[in-house]
Amino acid sequence: MTGHHPVLLLRYNECHASEEPLSSIVNNETRFLQAVELGLGAWQWGDRYVWQYGQGYGDDDVHQAFLSSIAEGVRFIDTAEIYGSGRSERLAGRFLKETDQPILIATKFFPLPWRLTKNSVPSALKTSLERLQRETVDLYQIHWPTRLFSIESMMEGMVECVNRGWTRTVGVSNFNQIQMIRAYSTLERNSISLASNQVHFSLLHRDVERNGLLARCKELGVRLIAYSPLEMGLLTGKYTPKNPPPGNRGGRYANLLGKIEPLLKSMNEIGQEHGGKSNSQVALNWIIGKGALPIPGAKNAAQALQNAGALGWKLTEAEVAKLDEISDRIVQE
Ligand SMILES: NC(=O)c1ccc[n+]([C@@H]2O[C@H](COP(=O)([O-])OP(=O)(O)OC[C@H]3O[C@@H](n4cnc5c(N)ncnc54)[C@H](OP(=O)(O)O)[C@@H]3O)[C@@H](O)[C@H]2O)c1
Repeated sequence: MTGHHPVLLLRYNECHASEEPLSSIVNNETRFLQAVELGLGAWQWGDRYVWQYGQGYGDDDVHQAFLSSIAEGVRFIDTAEIYGSGRSERLAGRFLKETDQPILIATKFFPLPWRLTKNSVPSALKTSLERLQRETVDLYQIHWPTRLFSIESMMEGMVECVNRGWTRTVGVSNFNQIQMIRAYSTLERNSISLASNQVHFSLLHRDVERNGLLARCKELGVRLIAYSPLEMGLLTGKYTPKNPPPGNRGGRYANLLGKIEPLLKSMNEIGQEHGGKSNSQVALNWIIGKGALPIPGAKNAAQALQNAGALGWKLTEAEVAKLDEISDRIVQE
Protein backbone atom coordinates (compact mmCIF):
# COMPACT_ATOMS: atom_id res chain seq x y z
CA MET A 1 0.00 0.00 0.00
CA THR A 2 2.92 2.41 -0.46
CA GLY A 3 2.38 5.53 -2.55
CA HIS A 4 -1.36 5.73 -1.96
CA HIS A 5 -3.43 8.65 -0.79
CA PRO A 6 -3.47 8.90 3.04
CA VAL A 7 -7.27 8.78 3.20
CA LEU A 8 -7.32 5.59 1.14
CA LEU A 9 -4.49 4.13 3.18
CA LEU A 10 -6.36 4.94 6.38
CA ARG A 11 -9.49 3.28 5.04
CA TYR A 12 -7.51 0.20 3.96
CA ASN A 13 -6.01 -0.15 7.41
CA GLU A 14 -9.35 0.48 9.10
CA CYS A 15 -11.04 -2.13 6.95
CA HIS A 16 -8.42 -4.70 7.72
CA ALA A 17 -8.40 -3.90 11.41
CA SER A 18 -12.17 -4.43 11.60
CA GLU A 19 -12.10 -7.29 9.07
CA GLU A 20 -14.66 -5.45 6.97
CA PRO A 21 -15.43 -7.39 3.77
CA LEU A 22 -13.18 -6.58 0.81
CA SER A 23 -16.21 -5.62 -1.30
CA SER A 24 -16.64 -2.38 0.67
CA ILE A 25 -13.07 -1.32 -0.12
CA VAL A 26 -13.69 -2.00 -3.79
CA ASN A 27 -16.95 -0.02 -3.67
CA ASN A 28 -15.17 2.98 -2.26
CA GLU A 29 -12.30 2.91 -4.72
CA THR A 30 -11.97 6.30 -6.39
CA ARG A 31 -8.44 6.08 -7.74
CA PHE A 32 -9.59 5.08 -11.23
CA LEU A 33 -10.82 8.62 -11.76
CA GLN A 34 -7.37 10.04 -10.98
CA ALA A 35 -6.05 8.06 -13.94
CA VAL A 36 -8.60 9.42 -16.45
CA GLU A 37 -7.00 12.27 -18.41
CA LEU A 38 -9.78 13.30 -20.79
CA GLY A 39 -13.52 12.67 -21.04
CA LEU A 40 -16.39 13.45 -23.40
CA GLY A 41 -19.24 15.70 -22.28
CA ALA A 42 -22.73 14.69 -23.42
CA TRP A 43 -24.77 17.85 -22.77
CA GLN A 44 -24.83 18.30 -26.55
CA TRP A 45 -26.69 14.98 -27.01
CA GLY A 46 -30.23 16.26 -27.27
CA ASP A 47 -30.07 19.81 -25.88
CA ARG A 48 -31.99 22.26 -28.03
CA TYR A 49 -31.95 25.27 -25.72
CA VAL A 50 -28.20 26.01 -25.54
CA TRP A 51 -26.76 23.75 -28.25
CA GLN A 52 -29.54 23.85 -30.91
CA TYR A 53 -29.77 20.09 -31.16
CA GLY A 54 -31.61 19.23 -34.38
CA GLN A 55 -30.25 22.29 -36.19
CA GLY A 56 -27.11 21.33 -38.08
CA TYR A 57 -26.47 18.20 -36.05
CA GLY A 58 -28.42 15.26 -34.62
CA ASP A 59 -28.28 11.69 -33.27
CA ASP A 60 -26.00 10.36 -36.03
CA ASP A 61 -23.49 13.17 -35.52
CA VAL A 62 -23.19 12.70 -31.77
CA HIS A 63 -22.97 8.94 -32.31
CA GLN A 64 -19.97 9.58 -34.59
CA ALA A 65 -18.51 11.92 -31.97
CA PHE A 66 -18.82 9.11 -29.43
CA LEU A 67 -17.27 6.50 -31.77
CA SER A 68 -14.37 8.80 -32.73
CA SER A 69 -13.64 9.57 -29.09
CA ILE A 70 -13.63 5.87 -28.22
CA ALA A 71 -11.38 5.09 -31.19
CA GLU A 72 -8.92 7.70 -29.90
CA GLY A 73 -8.85 6.15 -26.42
CA VAL A 74 -11.34 8.35 -24.52
CA ARG A 75 -13.03 6.14 -21.92
CA PHE A 76 -15.12 8.52 -19.78
CA ILE A 77 -18.55 9.95 -20.68
CA ASP A 78 -20.29 12.65 -18.63
CA THR A 79 -24.05 12.94 -18.94
CA ALA A 80 -26.95 14.10 -16.70
CA GLU A 81 -30.62 13.27 -16.31
CA ILE A 82 -31.56 16.80 -17.40
CA TYR A 83 -29.51 16.87 -20.63
CA GLY A 84 -32.02 16.86 -23.48
CA SER A 85 -34.65 15.91 -20.85
CA GLY A 86 -33.27 12.37 -20.67
CA ARG A 87 -32.28 12.02 -24.33
CA SER A 88 -28.56 12.25 -23.53
CA GLU A 89 -28.77 9.31 -21.11
CA ARG A 90 -30.89 7.30 -23.55
CA LEU A 91 -28.40 7.89 -26.36
CA ALA A 92 -25.50 7.03 -24.05
CA GLY A 93 -27.27 3.77 -23.16
CA ARG A 94 -27.70 2.92 -26.84
CA PHE A 95 -24.12 3.81 -27.80
CA LEU A 96 -22.63 1.91 -24.86
CA LYS A 97 -24.58 -1.22 -25.81
CA GLU A 98 -23.02 -1.12 -29.26
CA THR A 99 -19.41 -1.12 -28.10
CA ASP A 100 -17.49 -3.81 -26.29
CA GLN A 101 -14.97 -1.29 -24.91
CA PRO A 102 -15.13 -0.75 -21.15
CA ILE A 103 -16.39 2.84 -20.88
CA LEU A 104 -16.76 4.71 -17.59
CA ILE A 105 -20.09 6.49 -17.31
CA ALA A 106 -20.95 9.42 -15.05
CA THR A 107 -24.39 10.96 -14.63
CA LYS A 108 -26.01 13.50 -12.29
CA PHE A 109 -28.93 14.06 -9.94
CA PHE A 110 -30.67 17.43 -10.24
CA PRO A 111 -32.29 18.66 -7.00
CA LEU A 112 -35.61 19.66 -8.56
CA PRO A 113 -37.88 21.45 -6.06
CA TRP A 114 -40.37 18.57 -5.88
CA ARG A 115 -37.83 15.95 -4.83
CA LEU A 116 -35.76 17.10 -1.92
CA THR A 117 -35.60 14.04 0.35
CA LYS A 118 -32.76 11.59 0.61
CA ASN A 119 -34.91 8.85 -0.94
CA SER A 120 -35.28 10.93 -4.11
CA VAL A 121 -31.58 10.39 -4.88
CA PRO A 122 -31.69 6.59 -5.35
CA SER A 123 -35.11 6.92 -6.91
CA ALA A 124 -33.75 9.30 -9.60
CA LEU A 125 -30.71 7.10 -10.15
CA LYS A 126 -32.99 4.11 -10.76
CA THR A 127 -34.68 6.03 -13.59
CA SER A 128 -31.31 7.12 -14.99
CA LEU A 129 -30.11 3.50 -14.95
CA GLU A 130 -33.20 2.48 -16.93
CA ARG A 131 -32.46 5.12 -19.56
CA LEU A 132 -28.80 4.07 -19.60
CA GLN A 133 -29.80 0.37 -19.77
CA ARG A 134 -27.27 -0.43 -17.05
CA GLU A 135 -27.27 -1.83 -13.56
CA THR A 136 -24.68 0.60 -12.27
CA VAL A 137 -22.80 3.81 -13.13
CA ASP A 138 -19.19 4.61 -12.30
CA LEU A 139 -19.87 8.07 -10.89
CA TYR A 140 -23.12 9.64 -9.63
CA GLN A 141 -22.92 13.39 -9.04
CA ILE A 142 -25.13 16.03 -7.44
CA HIS A 143 -25.52 18.53 -10.30
CA TRP A 144 -25.91 21.71 -8.19
CA PRO A 145 -26.21 22.42 -4.48
CA THR A 146 -29.42 24.05 -3.29
CA ARG A 147 -30.48 25.63 0.00
CA LEU A 148 -33.68 23.58 -0.14
CA PHE A 149 -31.95 20.21 0.25
CA SER A 150 -29.20 19.88 2.86
CA ILE A 151 -25.88 18.53 1.65
CA GLU A 152 -25.93 15.97 4.47
CA SER A 153 -29.31 14.57 3.32
CA MET A 154 -28.18 14.51 -0.31
CA MET A 155 -25.11 12.54 0.70
CA GLU A 156 -27.19 10.12 2.75
CA GLY A 157 -29.14 9.50 -0.45
CA MET A 158 -25.83 8.93 -2.23
CA VAL A 159 -24.72 6.44 0.45
CA GLU A 160 -27.91 4.49 -0.26
CA CYS A 161 -27.02 4.47 -3.99
CA VAL A 162 -23.57 3.01 -3.21
CA ASN A 163 -25.00 0.45 -0.79
CA ARG A 164 -27.48 -0.74 -3.42
CA GLY A 165 -24.61 -1.15 -5.89
CA TRP A 166 -26.14 1.39 -8.27
CA THR A 167 -23.08 3.63 -8.38
CA ARG A 168 -19.43 2.82 -7.89
CA THR A 169 -18.47 6.28 -6.62
CA VAL A 170 -20.01 9.60 -5.53
CA GLY A 171 -19.29 13.08 -6.88
CA VAL A 172 -20.59 16.64 -6.57
CA SER A 173 -20.75 19.51 -9.03
CA ASN A 174 -20.70 23.28 -8.64
CA PHE A 175 -19.85 22.89 -4.93
CA ASN A 176 -17.60 25.52 -3.32
CA GLN A 177 -14.96 24.50 -0.78
CA ILE A 178 -17.25 24.64 2.25
CA GLN A 179 -20.02 22.71 0.51
CA MET A 180 -17.50 20.17 -0.74
CA ILE A 181 -16.07 19.61 2.72
CA ARG A 182 -19.58 19.04 4.09
CA ALA A 183 -20.18 16.42 1.39
CA TYR A 184 -16.75 14.89 1.98
CA SER A 185 -17.28 14.62 5.74
CA THR A 186 -20.75 13.08 5.51
CA LEU A 187 -19.50 10.45 3.09
CA GLU A 188 -16.40 9.88 5.21
CA ARG A 189 -18.59 9.03 8.21
CA ASN A 190 -20.05 6.30 6.01
CA SER A 191 -16.60 5.07 4.90
CA ILE A 192 -17.07 6.44 1.38
CA SER A 193 -14.60 8.74 -0.39
CA LEU A 194 -15.82 11.76 -2.32
CA ALA A 195 -14.55 11.03 -5.83
CA SER A 196 -14.95 14.34 -7.67
CA ASN A 197 -16.17 17.92 -7.89
CA GLN A 198 -17.19 19.01 -11.40
CA VAL A 199 -16.84 22.76 -11.89
CA HIS A 200 -16.34 25.41 -14.56
CA PHE A 201 -12.63 25.65 -15.40
CA SER A 202 -10.98 26.94 -18.57
CA LEU A 203 -8.30 29.40 -19.68
CA LEU A 204 -11.07 32.01 -19.55
CA HIS A 205 -12.56 30.95 -16.22
CA ARG A 206 -9.92 30.32 -13.56
CA ASP A 207 -11.80 30.83 -10.28
CA VAL A 208 -10.79 27.38 -9.01
CA GLU A 209 -7.11 28.32 -9.15
CA ARG A 210 -7.70 31.62 -7.36
CA ASN A 211 -10.13 30.54 -4.67
CA GLY A 212 -8.14 27.44 -3.66
CA LEU A 213 -10.69 24.83 -4.78
CA LEU A 214 -8.26 23.10 -7.15
CA ALA A 215 -5.57 22.93 -4.46
CA ARG A 216 -8.06 21.62 -1.88
CA CYS A 217 -9.28 18.93 -4.29
CA LYS A 218 -5.71 17.73 -4.82
CA GLU A 219 -5.09 17.70 -1.08
CA LEU A 220 -8.18 15.54 -0.44
CA GLY A 221 -7.72 13.24 -3.45
CA VAL A 222 -10.95 14.58 -5.00
CA ARG A 223 -10.72 14.71 -8.81
CA LEU A 224 -11.55 18.15 -10.18
CA ILE A 225 -13.56 17.61 -13.37
CA ALA A 226 -13.40 20.69 -15.61
CA TYR A 227 -16.61 21.55 -17.46
CA SER A 228 -16.85 24.02 -20.35
CA PRO A 229 -13.07 23.57 -20.84
CA LEU A 230 -13.29 25.21 -24.28
CA GLU A 231 -15.37 28.03 -22.80
CA MET A 232 -18.35 26.71 -24.81
CA GLY A 233 -16.42 26.96 -28.10
CA LEU A 234 -14.72 30.37 -27.59
CA LEU A 235 -11.25 28.88 -27.06
CA THR A 236 -11.37 27.02 -30.39
CA GLY A 237 -10.78 30.39 -32.05
CA LYS A 238 -13.67 30.09 -34.50
CA TYR A 239 -15.79 32.86 -32.95
CA THR A 240 -15.14 36.61 -33.20
CA PRO A 241 -17.18 39.71 -32.31
CA LYS A 242 -18.34 39.74 -35.95
CA ASN A 243 -19.04 36.01 -35.95
CA PRO A 244 -20.44 35.26 -32.46
CA PRO A 245 -21.66 31.81 -31.42
CA PRO A 246 -25.33 31.11 -32.14
CA GLY A 247 -28.12 31.05 -29.55
CA ASN A 248 -27.78 32.43 -26.05
CA ARG A 249 -23.98 32.01 -26.07
CA GLY A 250 -23.87 35.10 -28.31
CA GLY A 251 -25.27 37.38 -25.60
CA ARG A 252 -23.46 35.67 -22.75
CA TYR A 253 -20.05 36.11 -24.37
CA ALA A 254 -20.55 39.42 -26.22
CA ASN A 255 -18.17 41.28 -23.89
CA LEU A 256 -15.51 38.56 -23.53
CA LEU A 257 -15.35 37.89 -27.29
CA GLY A 258 -13.92 41.35 -27.90
CA LYS A 259 -10.96 40.69 -25.59
CA ILE A 260 -9.69 37.21 -26.38
CA GLU A 261 -7.75 37.82 -29.60
CA PRO A 262 -4.29 38.06 -27.86
CA LEU A 263 -4.92 34.76 -26.04
CA LEU A 264 -6.05 32.98 -29.21
CA LYS A 265 -2.97 34.30 -31.04
CA SER A 266 -0.62 33.06 -28.35
CA MET A 267 -2.37 29.66 -28.20
CA ASN A 268 -1.95 29.39 -31.95
CA GLU A 269 1.77 30.19 -31.79
CA ILE A 270 2.32 27.71 -28.98
CA GLY A 271 0.35 25.06 -30.89
CA GLN A 272 2.68 25.56 -33.87
CA GLU A 273 5.67 24.89 -31.60
CA HIS A 274 4.16 21.47 -30.90
CA GLY A 275 3.76 20.41 -34.51
CA GLY A 276 0.56 22.27 -35.31
CA LYS A 277 -1.72 21.60 -32.35
CA SER A 278 -5.08 23.38 -32.61
CA ASN A 279 -6.31 25.96 -30.12
CA SER A 280 -8.75 23.46 -28.60
CA GLN A 281 -5.92 20.97 -28.10
CA VAL A 282 -3.83 23.66 -26.39
CA ALA A 283 -6.80 24.69 -24.19
CA LEU A 284 -7.41 21.09 -23.05
CA ASN A 285 -3.72 20.28 -22.58
CA TRP A 286 -3.43 23.38 -20.35
CA ILE A 287 -6.19 21.99 -18.08
CA ILE A 288 -4.63 18.52 -17.95
CA GLY A 289 -1.31 20.16 -16.97
CA LYS A 290 -3.09 21.96 -14.11
CA GLY A 291 -4.09 18.56 -12.71
CA ALA A 292 -7.79 18.57 -13.68
CA LEU A 293 -9.87 16.33 -15.95
CA PRO A 294 -11.45 18.18 -18.91
CA ILE A 295 -14.68 16.84 -20.45
CA PRO A 296 -15.14 18.81 -23.70
CA GLY A 297 -18.46 18.48 -25.49
CA ALA A 298 -18.41 17.66 -29.22
CA LYS A 299 -21.23 17.87 -31.75
CA ASN A 300 -19.60 15.67 -34.39
CA ALA A 301 -16.69 13.36 -35.23
CA ALA A 302 -14.36 16.14 -36.42
CA GLN A 303 -14.64 18.06 -33.13
CA ALA A 304 -14.25 14.89 -31.05
CA LEU A 305 -11.19 13.76 -33.03
CA GLN A 306 -9.55 17.13 -32.67
CA ASN A 307 -10.21 17.27 -28.93
CA ALA A 308 -8.72 13.80 -28.39
CA GLY A 309 -5.49 15.21 -29.85
CA ALA A 310 -5.01 17.05 -26.53
CA LEU A 311 -3.45 13.81 -25.25
CA GLY A 312 0.07 12.47 -25.77
CA TRP A 313 2.08 15.70 -25.49
CA LYS A 314 2.69 18.41 -22.92
CA LEU A 315 2.92 22.21 -22.82
CA THR A 316 6.17 23.43 -21.26
CA GLU A 317 6.16 25.30 -17.94
CA ALA A 318 7.12 28.49 -19.76
CA GLU A 319 4.20 28.09 -22.17
CA VAL A 320 1.76 27.51 -19.32
CA ALA A 321 3.12 30.62 -17.55
CA LYS A 322 2.69 32.67 -20.72
CA LEU A 323 -0.91 31.52 -21.22
CA ASP A 324 -1.64 32.18 -17.52
CA GLU A 325 -0.31 35.70 -17.82
CA ILE A 326 -2.32 36.58 -20.95
CA SER A 327 -5.49 35.04 -19.55
CA ASP A 328 -5.00 36.97 -16.27
CA ARG A 329 -4.88 40.22 -18.20
CA ILE A 330 -8.07 39.42 -20.12
CA VAL A 331 -10.09 38.32 -17.12
CA GLN A 332 -8.98 41.26 -14.96
CA GLU A 333 -9.70 43.92 -17.61
N1 LIG B 1 -21.93 20.24 -14.10
C1 LIG B 1 -22.38 21.28 -14.76
O1 LIG B 1 -23.06 22.15 -14.22
C2 LIG B 1 -21.98 21.42 -16.21
C3 LIG B 1 -22.16 22.65 -16.87
C4 LIG B 1 -21.75 22.74 -18.20
C5 LIG B 1 -21.20 21.62 -18.84
N2 LIG B 1 -21.06 20.44 -18.19
C6 LIG B 1 -20.44 19.25 -18.81
O2 LIG B 1 -19.24 19.64 -19.44
C7 LIG B 1 -19.26 19.28 -20.81
C8 LIG B 1 -18.44 20.29 -21.62
O3 LIG B 1 -18.83 21.63 -21.39
P1 LIG B 1 -19.65 22.50 -22.46
O4 LIG B 1 -20.37 21.57 -23.36
O5 LIG B 1 -20.41 23.51 -21.69
O6 LIG B 1 -18.55 23.34 -23.25
P2 LIG B 1 -17.18 23.07 -24.02
O7 LIG B 1 -16.77 21.67 -23.93
O8 LIG B 1 -16.28 24.13 -23.53
O9 LIG B 1 -17.59 23.43 -25.52
C9 LIG B 1 -18.29 22.52 -26.33
C10 LIG B 1 -18.71 23.18 -27.65
O10 LIG B 1 -17.59 23.76 -28.30
C11 LIG B 1 -17.66 23.50 -29.70
N3 LIG B 1 -16.51 22.61 -30.01
C12 LIG B 1 -16.08 21.56 -29.26
N4 LIG B 1 -14.95 21.03 -29.78
C13 LIG B 1 -14.66 21.76 -30.86
C14 LIG B 1 -13.60 21.71 -31.82
N5 LIG B 1 -12.62 20.81 -31.74
N6 LIG B 1 -13.60 22.62 -32.84
C15 LIG B 1 -14.57 23.55 -32.91
N7 LIG B 1 -15.59 23.65 -32.05
C16 LIG B 1 -15.64 22.77 -31.02
C17 LIG B 1 -19.00 22.84 -29.97
O11 LIG B 1 -20.03 23.83 -30.14
P3 LIG B 1 -20.25 24.69 -31.47
O12 LIG B 1 -19.75 23.89 -32.64
O13 LIG B 1 -21.70 24.99 -31.48
O14 LIG B 1 -19.45 25.95 -31.21
C18 LIG B 1 -19.26 22.16 -28.65
O15 LIG B 1 -20.63 21.95 -28.44
C19 LIG B 1 -20.75 19.21 -21.15
O16 LIG B 1 -21.02 18.45 -22.30
C20 LIG B 1 -21.29 18.60 -19.89
O17 LIG B 1 -21.07 17.19 -19.89
C21 LIG B 1 -21.44 20.34 -16.88
